[in-house]
Amino acid sequence: MDKPDFKVGIVGAGWIAEKAAITLNGLDGFRPYAIGSRSLEKAQGFAAQWGIARAYGSYSEVIDDPEVDLIYVATPHSHHFDVTKEALEKGKPCLVEKAFMANKTQAEVIVDLARHKKVFLAEAIWTRYQPAVSIVRDLIREGCIGTPRLITATLGYSMGNKERIMRPDLCGGSLLDLGVYCLNFVRMFCDAPIVSMNSQCVKTDTGMDLSNAISLVLADGILANVQSSAACVGDNTGVIAGTEGNLVIDNVNNPQRITVNGPDRVFVEEIAVPQQITGYEYQFVACRDAMAAGLLEPPQMPWKETLYIMELMDGLRKQWGVRYPMDGIDWK
Ligand SMILES: NC(=O)c1ccc[n+]([C@@H]2O[C@H](COP(=O)([O-])OP(=O)(O)OC[C@H]3O[C@@H](n4cnc5c(N)ncnc54)[C@H](OP(=O)(O)O)[C@@H]3O)[C@@H](O)[C@H]2O)c1
Repeated sequence: MDKPDFKVGIVGAGWIAEKAAITLNGLDGFRPYAIGSRSLEKAQGFAAQWGIARAYGSYSEVIDDPEVDLIYVATPHSHHFDVTKEALEKGKPCLVEKAFMANKTQAEVIVDLARHKKVFLAEAIWTRYQPAVSIVRDLIREGCIGTPRLITATLGYSMGNKERIMRPDLCGGSLLDLGVYCLNFVRMFCDAPIVSMNSQCVKTDTGMDLSNAISLVLADGILANVQSSAACVGDNTGVIAGTEGNLVIDNVNNPQRITVNGPDRVFVEEIAVPQQITGYEYQFVACRDAMAAGLLEPPQMPWKETLYIMELMDGLRKQWGVRYPMDGIDWK
């Protein structure tokens, strides 16, 4: 008998939810099975458009649907905590969009809950699950660029007018939306600990970081300069420069083409990743496989790493004075 499809229940019928529905409809062995929205009418429209079996006018009903194998949390960062907490308390596995939570305090509560309840939990930072990660790591390990010394990465989209970027109560700013990819870019290719971090930002008139620049020194002598902006169209390129050449990765947000250059920047080869549905498929496959193996977290993005990225982002926001209502009174 065929294995039943892995059924995903999507929470929040917004932009990324559509991408998830398209992905799951194109992925063998998976189904976008349920959609939950604050509006039943919106959920029904979304379900009709994407061939989804169950439409609910609340997030709780998706969580309560016994057929759902995995809850995919696709609300703004500010609204990840409550729905993920409810799902974990009810024993439902969760894949939670980036940025994982508003701050590390929230993230620790959620990770502790998953650990305590023994329920699967993963952060949907899609780049971490993509084939480019092992391709680039292998190239570095094989020594094709010598010893890595400098990393640069830019991610910019002109979307500073979006509510999600402007509003403190929606955990606005470029860092949690875009900068998170740049930090992950450094962390997924370099294992050495970060020993120092300096940064600056330009703010929106609502006090959120519109553009930011972050400089990290790693224990093995790598310097990483990364920047993100919600105010412009960035080149979105990542470069890992070593003593014998460099790797140019296009792009930081969805690595699909890796160019290897040798000494004197002489072109060596270009490596394309396998054909994608959208690139989001890998995170869903990782969740299914980890759950089938009895794991509570995906090896591609362990909880420890999710918490570390949240800690870095807390530290950066503190440097800039970018504060959210959920940061608490002891936030300094
Ligand atoms: N991985 C990626 O490439 C990627 C790309 C874009 C976004 N994301 C992440 O996905 C999440 C959602 O982003 P998005 O662009 O899809 O956002 P969006 O379209 O602005 O909003 C997503 C949905 O969240 C729900 N929601 C719940 N409370 C809300 C509130 N107070 N205000 C606005 N919406 C609220 C709404 O769904 P209902 O009205 O149906 O309840 C809304 O449609 C974010 O965490 C973002 O960082 C990831």
